[in-house]
Amino acid sequence: MYKIAVIPGDGTGREQITEGLKVLQAAERNYGFKMETVEYDLGGERYLRSGEILPDSVLEELKKFDAIFLGAIGHPDVKPGILETRLLLRLRFALDLYINLRPVKLFPGAATPLKDKGPADIDFVVVRENTEGLYAGTGGFLRKGTPQEVAVQESVNTRYGVERCLRYAFEYCREKRPRKKLTLCGKTNVLTYAFDLWERAFNEIGTSYPDISRDYAHVDAICMWMVKNPEWFDVIVTDNMFGDIITDLGAMIQGGMGIAAGGNLHPGKVSMFEPIGGSAPKYTGKGVINPLAAICAGAMMLDFLGEYKAADEIEKAVARVCSEKLQSLNAGQMGYSTAEVGDLVAEQL
Ligand code: IPM
Ligand code: MN
Repeated sequence: MYKIAVIPGDGTGREQITEGLKVLQAAERNYGFKMETVEYDLGGERYLRSGEILPDSVLEELKKFDAIFLGAIGHPDVKPGILETRLLLRLRFALDLYINLRPVKLFPGAATPLKDKGPADIDFVVVRENTEGLYAGTGGFLRKGTPQEVAVQESVNTRYGVERCLRYAFEYCREKRPRKKLTLCGKTNVLTYAFDLWERAFNEIGTSYPDISRDYAHVDAICMWMVKNPEWFDVIVTDNMFGDIITDLGAMIQGGMGIAAGGNLHPGKVSMFEPIGGSAPKYTGKGVINPLAAICAGAMMLDFLGEYKAADEIEKAVARVCSEKLQSLNAGQMGYSTAEVGDLVAEQL
């Protein structure tokens, strides 16, 4: 029995989560596990209504779950930066979700904008550090609002934080990836302190993983090769900011935000799974959004919980729906409604 906190959130979040749960429930019936869900009203709507973002009591309750299934956070009437820092990033930091895991996998039948690349070429995973770097929130203003204003935003890299992220990446590579290649994505030519630490730790820890081949590339080159030679990558490990940026590029080459899922993880503790596309307010309530990203996030959640068979079968069902049914992965162009796509995947199971 797994206890799952469900946060539908804003915009199309609820539509996506509804289909994600539909598929999880179909898996529950077939693969011998049970879930108990509790819904939490968090997001822009609640903030505009009550001024509350993430009450401490809710945070405490969330710690008691096995996992959190999140739709999307983001509201057009809320100024950028409020919900991001006080809800999403606060959850990541307060729950110490130190890994952001983002698979970049092109399913058969899904269209990639990359010419001459197919499912055999686009299949890698990004392990993004999720609690430090430029996201740590250190820095500040000096002489704010004057012509001499100074704004400093620092990248925080602790040996502890870097090391646990790298260890996770090596272990993940060993356990889940037959090719066993780990690429560190950095910028050692310019960020000569931060990525010096990363690179030293990478090579030191790497000696305990002789079965994993190590590679290094600067983040700008990674962007180039993700487009030109995505088949070079197996697992990429990187800091918070670079990970944020390259995973949006990754989402595009795997067919767009309709399919891209991620997990915010702390192995052994409550972790949070989400479609990474955001709340897409312009599609809200239209039943046109692609729920496959949420469905894939659900599969990642089951994998994290140890329900490997169910996770794998959901992924296979998604692959079949992509190749045999959908006209496109884009919102409004699937040839089916949001709910119908959920039904198709549930039927496959
Ligand atoms: C993501 C998002 C977040 C991030 C924002 C919404 C704070 O872009 O999950 O990638 O930058 O991490
Ligand atoms: Mn992002």
